[in-house]
Amino acid sequence: MHVIEANGAKIPAIGLGTWELRGRTCARLVEQALKLGYRHLDTAQAYDNEREVGEGMRASGVKRDEIFLTTKIWTNHFAPHELERSAKESLVRLRQPYVDLLLLHWPNSQVPLAETLGALAHAKSMGLARHIGVSNFTVALIDEALATASEPLVCDQIECHPFLDQSKVIKACHAHGMAVVAYSPIARGDARGNTVLARIGAAHKKTAVQVCLRFLVQQDIVVIPRTSKVERLSENAAIFDFELSGQEMKEIGALSHPDGRLVDWAYSGRPKWD
Ligand SMILES: NC(=O)c1ccc[n+]([C@@H]2O[C@H](COP(=O)([O-])OP(=O)(O)OC[C@H]3O[C@@H](n4cnc5c(N)ncnc54)[C@H](OP(=O)(O)O)[C@@H]3O)[C@@H](O)[C@H]2O)c1
Repeated sequence: MHVIEANGAKIPAIGLGTWELRGRTCARLVEQALKLGYRHLDTAQAYDNEREVGEGMRASGVKRDEIFLTTKIWTNHFAPHELERSAKESLVRLRQPYVDLLLLHWPNSQVPLAETLGALAHAKSMGLARHIGVSNFTVALIDEALATASEPLVCDQIECHPFLDQSKVIKACHAHGMAVVAYSPIARGDARGNTVLARIGAAHKKTAVQVCLRFLVQQDIVVIPRTSKVERLSENAAIFDFELSGQEMKEIGALSHPDGRLVDWAYSGRPKWD
C-alpha cells in the first residue's frame, strides 16, 4: 500500500472517488474496490451516497481500521454548531464511529474561516474525525487557514490533472507538509483519448489513464479516480509497477493549458453540487 504522509496522516496514494455513484452501484463499487485492495474512499455530504459508501464498507469485510475514509462538510453547514451537527449526521449515515479525514468542501466567504476551522478542529477533538483538511482552497486561503488553524490541516483536495496547471497550490501544500489530493484526476475520462498519454502508455504497456494517474502519484499527489465499472477498478489502481522518465514527465506536464479547468468555481455556493 503506497501512502502519502502529511502532517501526521498516512493517506493511501490511491482512493476511490464516489461522486455520482448512487444506490446499489455505489455500494457494490465500494465493496469491490475494497476487495481488490483499495484502502481509501472519498465521499461527501453533497454526493448523497454516504449511506451506500458505509454499506459497501461493511459488505467488503475489510476491517475499519484498514480503511481511510474521507467525507466533506457542505458549505451551508459551516457555522460552528451546525458543522458539529452535520458531521455527526454524516457518521450516522455512514454508520461509522469516525471518519479518517473531514474536509471543508469549498470555501464559504459567508462564514468567517477562523470560526469554521475552530469547529472543524473541535470535531476532531471529539473523535468524529482523525484528521481534518480543506478542499478547493487557493494559495491565499491556505495561508489564511494555516494562520488560524489550531490543528494541523493534512490536505487540500483540488482539481488536478495534466491538463490544468496547479503548480502553485501544489508547491504551497507541500511546503506546509500538506498532501495534495487530486480530484478529477483523469479529467473526467478525457485522459483516455489523449494521444500523448496513449503513446507514452504504449511504451510501458499501460493505458493513457494509467499514465495520467502515474504522472500525479509520481509527484507525491494522492489520486481518487471514480469509476462506475468494476473492471476499471483494477486498471486505475495498477500504477505502482512502472515509472515515467524525466522526459516523459516533462512532456505530460506540457499538456496543461489555461482553460483546462473542468470544475466551475462559480458553482461553489450552490448546494448539492460538487
Ligand atoms: N472536492 C471537490 O470539490 C471534488 C470535485 C469533484 C470530484 N471530487 C472527487 O474526486 C473524484 C474523482 O473525480 P471525478 O469523479 O470528477 O472525475 P474522474 O475520476 O477524473 O473521472 C471519472 C470519469 O472517468 C471515467 N473513467 C474512470 N476510469 C476510467 C478508465 N480506466 N478508462 C476510461 N474512463 C474511465 C468514468 O467513467 P465510468 O464510470 O464509465 O468508468 C467517469 O466518467 C469524485 O468522484 C469525487 O470523489 C471532489
